[in-house]
Amino acid sequence: ERERETNTTIAHVYRGTFVHSTPHTALQILEDALLGVDTEGKIAFIGKGEELNKLSQSCGFSPSEVIQLAQHEFFMPGMVDTHIHAPQYSYAGTALDLPLLQWLNTYTFPVESRFKDLEFARSVYTQVVKRTLRNGTTTACYFATIHTDASLLLGKITNDFGQRALVGKVCMDINNAVKHYKETSEESQEETCRFIAELLKKKYPLVKPVVTPRFALSCSADLLEQLGAIAKNNNLHIQSHISETIEEVNVVKKLFPDSESYTDVYLKHNLLTDKTVMAHGCHLTDEELALFRETGASLSHCPNSNISLCSGMLNVRNVLNHKVKLGLGTDVAGGYSASMLDAVRRTLDTSKVLTIQEPDYCTLSFEEVFRLATLGGSQALSMDDHTGNFEVGKDFDALRVNVAAPEGPIDLVQVDEPKILLEKFLNLGDDRNIVEVYVAGRKVVPFE
Ligand code: GUN
Ligand code: ZN
Repeated sequence: ERERETNTTIAHVYRGTFVHSTPHTALQILEDALLGVDTEGKIAFIGKGEELNKLSQSCGFSPSEVIQLAQHEFFMPGMVDTHIHAPQYSYAGTALDLPLLQWLNTYTFPVESRFKDLEFARSVYTQVVKRTLRNGTTTACYFATIHTDASLLLGKITNDFGQRALVGKVCMDINNAVKHYKETSEESQEETCRFIAELLKKKYPLVKPVVTPRFALSCSADLLEQLGAIAKNNNLHIQSHISETIEEVNVVKKLFPDSESYTDVYLKHNLLTDKTVMAHGCHLTDEELALFRETGASLSHCPNSNISLCSGMLNVRNVLNHKVKLGLGTDVAGGYSASMLDAVRRTLDTSKVLTIQEPDYCTLSFEEVFRLATLGGSQALSMDDHTGNFEVGKDFDALRVNVAAPEGPIDLVQVDEPKILLEKFLNLGDDRNIVEVYVAGRKVVPFE
């Protein structure tokens, strides 16, 4: 079970502490473990340090090649950002003084319209991919803009830097106050098909297209239907937004009077599948959550954005109780931080605020939030068959964390147990503690 049967060649073997989640355990700690990665970047075996000699013979590597982690170091799975707007990185940390719908028209759409310019797109997209990788995001689910060529460029940049990504060309044909940032429904469909075909043609091993209706407010019923059909015919991922603010929910009710709920709008247009991830969902009802559960669609919890734009607070415990798949997202730049460590902390904060309001609320533990940032995100993106934790046969997507990195933000007075080291890193750490990042076995940080 812990050794791959195939005759693959071992490329690297690491020895030290590994922390990860399983579907049954939020935090599993493997101390003095040996993990082998094959030449295809997959985890070939996981064993105990004391089995070194036996494993080196049966798996065919030399004990002298083993890479030993230091005392304050551990490996954890790479983090999964299930919702991030790459173009909005250009104004991250600003423009957080308006509610969602005004914020979109005032700040977001004018900025996104600039991504027609490929050189501007190249510079912002390079920055956001580097920043997120450095902060430990090994998989990102990106919204780009309506521009097909710039969206393809984002795919190329993620591939070049070695980040695993879903990339979406944004679709929007109605209700936009910014005249030059809109497409007709025909353009939107045609360009989506062109985007998908062109991206698939590149055969980037880590990058996939995702069908991306911006949200029900930006898309005519006709466009939603076409996009549902495109996703179905090509078996593609789908991403959008849902029930982020009360005002938005009320407008959707007016625009789609025949639908029973916001969720029903997407359901009716075949946009709720087991490869769908919807951002926010702060104001979903239990009936709507049941529809998520039935269809296998997932939610992306973006607490920084929800607080920054005063949108609402998702009751994560209730979502988990409904057995709806859930990952975390930065939602740059409604969320001002591109770091998933921030998403972890804001998730914990929000859960604690809910506990202050309702003392019976079952507060999320840091172990649970750690799982949401890793395996949970991978499940939410339906990628947990090959990513999300350290299981033999999965791709080695990992962060080498040094809690006591010399220039880092954490002072250690003693060698703590791994669980405490992880807790300190999640609460206090930053990119200085993430000394190496691996995606599919390849070292992608530090940059070459
Ligand atoms: N809803 C529709 N578009 C957006 C967006 O760009 N950001 C956020 N936070 N919500 C949205
Ligand atoms: Zn968003």
